[in-house]
Amino acid sequence: MGNRLQSPSPPSRGPNGSARTIQSSLVVVGAGYVGLVTSACLAHLGHRVRLVDIDSERITSLRAGVTPIAEPGLDTLIHLGVKSGRLSFDDHPRVALHSADMVFIAVGTLDANGRWTDTNVRSALESVLACESVPPLIVIRSTVRPGTMVGLRELVAATARPVNLLLNPEFTREGTAVADFLSPTRIVVGVASGDPPDTADPIRRLYAAIDAPFLVVDHSSAELIKIGSNAFLAAKITFANELARLCLATGADMSTVRYGIGIDPRIGPQFLRTGPGFGGSCLPSQVELLSAMSKELDLGLELIEAIVRSNREQPRRLVRELLASLPTPRRVAVLGLAFKANTDDTRESPSLRFIDALSDAGVGEIQAFDPQVRRLSTHPGVHLFPDAYAAASDADILVIATEWPQFRSLDWGRLAHVMCGREVFDARSIVAADEASAYGFRVRSLERRSAQRPEQPGVAAVQDRRLEPGPRSVAAGPMGSALAGQWRPAP
Ligand code: UDX
Repeated sequence: MGNRLQSPSPPSRGPNGSARTIQSSLVVVGAGYVGLVTSACLAHLGHRVRLVDIDSERITSLRAGVTPIAEPGLDTLIHLGVKSGRLSFDDHPRVALHSADMVFIAVGTLDANGRWTDTNVRSALESVLACESVPPLIVIRSTVRPGTMVGLRELVAATARPVNLLLNPEFTREGTAVADFLSPTRIVVGVASGDPPDTADPIRRLYAAIDAPFLVVDHSSAELIKIGSNAFLAAKITFANELARLCLATGADMSTVRYGIGIDPRIGPQFLRTGPGFGGSCLPSQVELLSAMSKELDLGLELIEAIVRSNREQPRRLVRELLASLPTPRRVAVLGLAFKANTDDTRESPSLRFIDALSDAGVGEIQAFDPQVRRLSTHPGVHLFPDAYAAASDADILVIATEWPQFRSLDWGRLAHVMCGREVFDARSIVAADEASAYGFRVRSLERRSAQRPEQPGVAAVQDRRLEPGPRSVAAGPMGSALAGQWRPAP
């Protein structure tokens, strides 16, 4: 579908010079996660940014100095931007547009039920185009469904306004969004098919202070560079989760195998950590979107469809294996609700899917603790506690569902005192099993090194780490010590 692939212009590098190169004046529409990070970082780079949102309460609280999301470094950049006069907030683009060189649109593209929608992008674009003075460049920053840019371009064309429409996707992760923005792996700009690559020059100047490959491609390719990147990361995680099952079935050590595979630069070590599956607001929805497109357009994207199935099944499979050899527990404690560490975001969290699977398996009570999640409106039946030990009280099984650093060093003596049972399921493979087993705990995880093949590989996929023979490194040879010293699952 869409336009034919057009060769990207060769990547170029921006100078490492001062952040105060050529100052642009821009309006960013949408004060959500992407819009806030984009605005604060562009103001930090020396540009004049007016951040606009129709949610006037949000604008009022931003003006009052309250940052609506928790993201390391964001608060400081917003504060500095406001203080320098380069960052300000409005509740309608009309106020700001007359003096702007360009407009960024960074509104949400998922509805309340997590379904893709271009309604917000279209109405933001329409409201910009309806203003008396419209800058010559409108840049879509939101992640759009492949094919959306064609429709948006038609919308612009229908107004006969002399406007270039660009797509500049973001590749920032929650928890490191500011750092990712300021040191990106690449800057991608999609221009309308047939437009010359220099259409992207104002964006090149905008990011002049950033040293990163700068790719100018057509709209459709930019759409798929964004979603394709996330689908590939999802594929790596799914592959790692499946490889870990093979390791358990054959007696291989997953952390060693991961090192040996990831050291190949064609593969790379990142996104090979095992766990209850990938979650968050991006990876699941984007892979599911590609899977839906595969069916709609009859593309037969077997791998993409399999990633969706495998990831959905992962928490259920783990719960099945965990409970297979135990009487149904009365009470389970779950540590970690966020979809990954260092965020309070529970959207599409694998921990919650794990909890759903526990409930479906008949577990009566689930007690939970997360260092940042204080409310869980989606799961009213789950009891939240202020710390790990309160959550573990009287529990039969303890589950580590999110890789929060503090769960690596739990006080096992204290847990032995408060818990009824001695079963631990370490879904992120972060617990020091030997410390826990000293207090009588049996720690099972997705990863373990085993000297013996399990008797029933298909069934015994979750193994007993109490039996782990010695260190996880390969014992003999120079590679052994290198592995032991260098490779650890990323925190
Ligand atoms: C992701 C992309 O990384 C980012 O480039 C894009 O802009 C937005 O989507 P984010 O959703 O913040 O970022 O989280 P990420 O760090 O990618 O993790 C996604 C999920 O994968 C989490 O649930 C995480 O726990 C899981 N994951 C990640 C693994 O299970 N194993 C890994 O090795 C890495």
